[in-house]
Parts: sequence; structure tokens; C-alpha cells
Amino acid sequence: AITVDPTAKGARIDDTMYGVFFEDINRAADGGLYAELVQNRSFEYSTDDNTSYTPLTSWTVDGTGRVVNDAGRLNARNRAYLSLGAGSSVTNAGYNTGISVQKGKRYDFSVWARAAAGTTLTVTLQDADGSLATARRVAVTKSGWAKYKATFTATRTSSAGRLTVGSTAAAALDMVSLFPRDTYRNEPNGLRKDLAEKIEALHPGFVRFPGGCLVNTGSMEDYSEASGYQRKRSYQWKDTVGPVEERATNANFWGYNQSYGLGYYEYFRLSEDIGAMPLPVVPALVTGCGQDKAVDDEALLKRHIQDTLDLIEFANGPVTSEWGGKRARMGHPQPFHLTHIEVGNEENLPEAFFARFKQFRAAIEAKYPDITVISNSGPDDAGTTFDTAWKLNKDAKVDMVDEHYYNSTQWFLQNNDRYDSYDRNGPKVFLGEYASWGNAFKNGLAEAAYMTGLERNADVVKLASYAPLFANEDYVQWRPDLIWFNNHAAWNSANYEVQKLFMNNVGDRVVPSTATGTPALTGPLTGAVGLSTWATSAAYDDVRVTDADGNALLSDDFSGDASQWTHTGGGSWSIQDGQYVQTDVAAENTMVSAGDPSWHDYDLKVKATKKSGK
Ligand code: AHR
Repeated sequence: AITVDPTAKGARIDDTMYGVFFEDINRAADGGLYAELVQNRSFEYSTDDNTSYTPLTSWTVDGTGRVVNDAGRLNARNRAYLSLGAGSSVTNAGYNTGISVQKGKRYDFSVWARAAAGTTLTVTLQDADGSLATARRVAVTKSGWAKYKATFTATRTSSAGRLTVGSTAAAALDMVSLFPRDTYRNEPNGLRKDLAEKIEALHPGFVRFPGGCLVNTGSMEDYSEASGYQRKRSYQWKDTVGPVEERATNANFWGYNQSYGLGYYEYFRLSEDIGAMPLPVVPALVTGCGQDKAVDDEALLKRHIQDTLDLIEFANGPVTSEWGGKRARMGHPQPFHLTHIEVGNEENLPEAFFARFKQFRAAIEAKYPDITVISNSGPDDAGTTFDTAWKLNKDAKVDMVDEHYYNSTQWFLQNNDRYDSYDRNGPKVFLGEYASWGNAFKNGLAEAAYMTGLERNADVVKLASYAPLFANEDYVQWRPDLIWFNNHAAWNSANYEVQKLFMNNVGDRVVPSTATGTPALTGPLTGAVGLSTWATSAAYDDVRVTDADGNALLSDDFSGDASQWTHTGGGSWSIQDGQYVQTDVAAENTMVSAGDPSWHDYDLKVKATKKSGK
């Protein structure tokens, strides 16, 4: 029975309480939310980004062509370009299965080129079945680098398109770009509409960006000749604003290249478009995420602190200020109304982090006393780092502390009361990253139950965001994730529906309630193991399920028959070379263990090779 006292007043719930956390992980930006269709448009891919990369990754040259890095470059921040021979062409393969176009929609092509006047560039869009749009001819009219444009209208729908640029004479090419005209809110240099609309549909109260480990890993140096044009540098906001051809690309901590076409201006614009509070994270000169190093360099620290002040000016300053003026020149004279900023992310060295955090906070509060400066508690190791970080935060009377944790469904059920005992006079909590380990229905359910505990403690927990937000199904570094996509489709997880439910129904105030006779949260769950996939063909091996203590509940290395499994989704399933292979599956499908194990909680390990996409 549930007893509710409508006259009693519980915690007030802020409209901004539930938000999203966008990090460029799982190719969430390039090939994802950022609508650019050409991969490696500036020929800047390098082995520093990923050992398998070359400057021609995603490109094929027909004839002669090579990537050069010399004084003839487009500009100092965009160092490599393609030198294409006369009568040659170069073709881009896009992301996933290719460039995705829809019949009747318009696509804007642009390229920076340097060639003799009178040279003709021929631009085509095709897939294996032939042309996808009428070819365009672009005449080179200037002697130096210049930007040329053309527009296509797709005559067919395809997600396996290729973009080819051919030249009648020797030509230098850079920033080869193809954008759908139909971006989110039709904004230039815009966002993929279906993905941005999924964020909008959540009605998030805030957007935390740009990371995560993305922010506080790598070198803290800048991108300049003096610093040796560092490739693996931390996410520094000034690298990501201004004309896209001057945004120096960077190695992404998650193992690929980031173009920064989706940068701070675009993050602010997205936040504004969806009515969410922007919440940027800046590095604090202590690396985290396994790199765990404190950078001892006073001059560099001062520069980063100044950059953070400049960021606030970029967001809020008048157009007459240096950085407010830059924002205005990018197309947004009005301020972005920044009120919160986070310094650092999950540092494992609490003392070193805190020494630097205090300097950031002092400088920000001196110039911008209304800005809330958020600190963090390091990874929740339920031990010394976390406790030390919290003590430092409390002693320094920090306004708000960011906590992160990823755990089992059982943990989320058992820890519903986590914040009941938090100090009401201490720092407020920003739960910046959390998720239970899975995208199944029961994960959404455990998270929903947990969120009732967050809401009950809305006087302490002021902000909360599930993480990560996006995953491109063909480039996954981290799972589970809230929204999944490929180059032409996107789909929600069960966890997304839970977030949406809470964000679309934020209350004003908690009405205290008590419950009796509720089911025991720790009771055994009974059921089968289901593996769901959208792949049309896949191979599985070594499926193992253990309970929380490591006891085996189910295992199958597929060396015998596969009689304990049943399927949905059609297709054919057979044992081949000790693997369980599915082929010709047309729709989402699930393989389910026919056994009926009972367990309190489980860890599922499976080796799966997906052979082809959705
Ligand atoms: O959300 C994925 C990662 O988890 C984030 O980058 C990091 O902050 C955390 O460890």
C-alpha cells in the first residue's frame, strides 16, 4: 500500500533537473549528429588518431593523387591537402555503408580548390546501381585557394552513395564537403535532423558537453608551430569555433579523428534551439581516464584559466567584447545565457585536481560571480579517491559536485536511497553520468526506479544525465547508449523511453509518500537470457552468464549443438566452426536461452561478430 500526504511538501524539483550528456564517443559527432556526409573531408586523418588511418582513409584515387603537407596548404591550421593529377578523380565513401541521400532532397557540395583558371571540376554522386543525381561542373575562376559550390537534388534514395570529384587539370583540393540542405532547423553547418530531433523530443533541461574523457585527456598544449602542432590534445574550445576550414582537427580519445565541425558554437546553438541550459566542461590540467597525470606548468595553467574566462565571454559577452564579437560574427549577436560551467572530469588525482580547480574557481568567481562552477568527485570507486574528493569539495564549500557511475541493475535497485543521507548543507550533486549495464527493458526499469530516488532528493540532486547519449552501430567503443543510429536510421533504447518519460513530466514538488508491502528489491529474478541484435548476419561464441559472485549460471561455447537457444526474427541459425551463426535475418531478432536460470543479478559476456549492418 502507498500512503500519500498531499498536504506535505517535499523537495522542489527544478525544471532543469534532467538533461543530456553529449560526448563525441561511438562517432557521435562526425558521421553522427554533425550532418557532414564526407568522411575525412580535409585529408587530416593520421595514425595519431587511429593506427589504421592514412590521410586517404575513406578516399580512393583514380589516376594520380597524393596528400601533401607543405607550404602550399590552405592555412596554418589545416595542414594537409590533396594534390590531384590532371584527368584524375577522387571518391569518398562516407560513413557506415556510404553517403546517405533521399530522393528529392537537396545536397550542398563545396570544396576549397587551387588550380589554373579554366580548370573544370566534375562532381558526381552515385552508388553501385548508378547515378544518384545529375553531375555538376564547377569552373575554377581564381588563381589561389577559393571555395566553390554546387547543389545536387537526389534522384534516388540510397545509403551507399559515393561522392567523386574529378579535375581536367592538376588541382589542390581541401575541405571537400557535402551537406544535406535539410539539417535540423535548416541551420548552416548544421546537425542531422533525425538525431537532433530525438534530443529535442526528450525536452532536456540541460546539455552537458563536450565530454567526458574527451575533455581531460591528451596534451594541454595548443595547436601551434611552437607546440609542434600537437595531434593528441585535450578538448580546447577555441580549436572548435570560427570558420570550419580553420578548425584544426584532433585525435579523439576514443580512437578516431574529430573534425570539430560540431564545436562550441554549434553546442550552444543546439542548447538554445531545444530550450536547454548549456553546461560546458573544460579541462583542469589534470588528465584522467587512465592517463592520470598532473600538468605542472604555471603559464599553461594561466592560459587555460584565461581561456575559460574567454569562453564565458564568448557565450555571454556583448558584441563589443573580443569573444562576444566572435560569437556575433559567427551569426549569433544575442548571448547564449551560460550560467553553469564544469571544471574537470573524473580526475583520479583529487589533491592535484583540487589545487588547480580552486584557481579556476577563484578567477571565474572574481569576474563572473553569478556563474556556478561545478567540481567533480572523480570516478565513483566507492573508496579513497571518491571520499577524498568529496572531503576536499566539502571543505572548500564547492557549489556542486559531479558524480559518475555505471553499475548493474541490482545496484541501481539497491541504492535507491543513496542520496537520502547526503548532507543537506553540503555541495549539491550533479549526477553527470550514470547508466545500468544494458539497453534491455529491465535496465530502463532499474533506472526509472533509481530516478525516483533522485527526484525524492531533488533538494540535493540538482541535475542528472544518462550517459552516453549516442552510438553509431558500426563504431562502438562504449555500451549501453541512449540513442542508436547508422548513416540513414536512428532508434531509441528502452532507457531513452525512461529518460523521455521523466524529462517530459518534470514535477514542481515531491509529494512525500510511504509504501508498505512492496516487493523485496533483492529478490531473485527468474528468466532466460536474450541477446537482441539488428544485424542481418552475425556470429556468436562463448556466451557466459555469471551471478554477481562469479558463479556460472549459463555458458555455451557452441562446440556442441545449440538446442538451448530459440529465436525470433526469422533467418537461419547454425553451428559453424564452433560459432553460432545467424544469416538472412530481416528484422530485429533475439536469441533466447531455453533454460530457466534464477539469479539475483548477472554479468553477460559474449563474443559477437556482426557481419553486416541493419
Ligand atoms: O560516458 C563514457 C565515459 O565514462 C566518459 O567519457 C567518462 O567521463 C566516463 O568514464
